[in-house]
Amino acid sequence: MNLSVILLAAGQGTRMKSSLPKVLHRICGQPMAQYALNTARHITDQKPVLVIGHGSEQVREVLGDQCDYVIQSPQLGTGHAVLQARDLLRARGGRVLVCYADMPLLTLDSFQRLIAQRDNTLAMLTVIAHDPRGFGRIARQPNGDVQAIVEDAQATPEQKMIRELNVGVYSFDAEFLWNELPKLPLSPKGEYYLTDLVAVAASQHKRVVAITTDDLDEAIGINTRVHLAECETVMRKRINRRWMEAGVTMIDPATTLIEPSAVLSADAVILPNTQIVGRTVIGGGTVIGPNTYIADSKIGSHCKIFSSVVEEATMEDHVEIGPYAHLRKGAHLANGVHLGNFGEVKNSYLGPDVKMGHFSYIGDAKIGANTNIGAGTITCNYDGEKKNETIVGDDVFIGSDTMLVAPITLGNRSRTGAGSVVTKNVPDDSLAVGVPARIRKK
Ligand code: UD1
Ligand code: CA
Repeated sequence: MNLSVILLAAGQGTRMKSSLPKVLHRICGQPMAQYALNTARHITDQKPVLVIGHGSEQVREVLGDQCDYVIQSPQLGTGHAVLQARDLLRARGGRVLVCYADMPLLTLDSFQRLIAQRDNTLAMLTVIAHDPRGFGRIARQPNGDVQAIVEDAQATPEQKMIRELNVGVYSFDAEFLWNELPKLPLSPKGEYYLTDLVAVAASQHKRVVAITTDDLDEAIGINTRVHLAECETVMRKRINRRWMEAGVTMIDPATTLIEPSAVLSADAVILPNTQIVGRTVIGGGTVIGPNTYIADSKIGSHCKIFSSVVEEATMEDHVEIGPYAHLRKGAHLANGVHLGNFGEVKNSYLGPDVKMGHFSYIGDAKIGANTNIGAGTITCNYDGEKKNETIVGDDVFIGSDTMLVAPITLGNRSRTGAGSVVTKNVPDDSLAVGVPARIRKK
């Protein structure tokens, strides 16, 4: 059966007090609307439809072509928002799943439970909660049948006592939805409430069913920055739990952020205050942290990354860095490399077993296997106009405080003296000493 998904995201999100549209605020690094879009992709081949209004340009730019867009302007309520998708979706028939794009904690499982209710004109998700948080209340008839959703603003004191709340996901029979939506009355608040369709269906003796989730977190909709933080905490917990169940050790999950796009392997160990973000991959047996930030990087197995920053870099296996190492874009450390404190590497390949123990900068360089980079070594890669390359062979010994003025090549087994400023190429098996360095054949 045809299944369309509509996500509502046109509201202003006034209480966020932000120039950014609410649905673009990030949860674990992703715009909050992305979570509902991901779930939609799992349940139907149809492109989801996002109803946008406030900040629509920005929303389109960030979310791109993963969904179709319809504009709601002005914003006259959730019923009016869904109505804007009628022309696009009516001919498809089947079922229509509607949810709010500011609820990133809704689970695939709940979506699927609603979709399974195909024989009902309307199925919706509810939750039993002590704190009603301004949610719509589920009014039932004495026999238990769902009668209506009563919005908080309209609820009588008795209805306000109801603890079964409308989470905000619905599965509709398309024909019912598209026929009845245009007939919705204006609420006393001047909006067309999608939720009024429940009473419409009930009064027509259609089948209406409420599916209850016992995961209270699912109902965290984001209206304020406080809700944003609550949601972030829950999402982190969910992601961290999933990795722990997959064999990752986390010493302090509360201070560990793993973005949904990162992939970890069993027996990785994550120490406190660590963030692993973007498209990062972590190998097995690798120990990361404490106080470490890794973005968009590929880390092999049995590595150690201690209090360091790694961005768009590659570490092969058995590589150790830190404390206070900084790998920048294009750094590639081969098997067995050791980088000690205050080492910075950018756009460079360090061959197998290279050692760089203390405060050095290597940029735009290729370093051969087993080379030792002495404390304070700098590749002077920038001449004020362009970046120049440094090539260092295998088994080279670079003395402390050497300046390698690029473009420059150091041959295999060459050496530089402490404090030398090397401005000319050094052949294999040669020694460079002094300022500027003179070359001696060994
Ligand atoms: C809504 C429900 C309420 C439910 C609660 C759960 C209605 C009338 N009420 O209330 O029963 O308990 O969610 O979180 O649906 N939006 C538009 N266009 C509009 C108005 C809203 O696209 O004209 C979008 C918003 O961007 C938001 C979503 O719809 O993503 C929900 O709107 P919001 O105003 O937050 O509804 P609630 O008052 O929370
Ligand atoms: Ca809301």
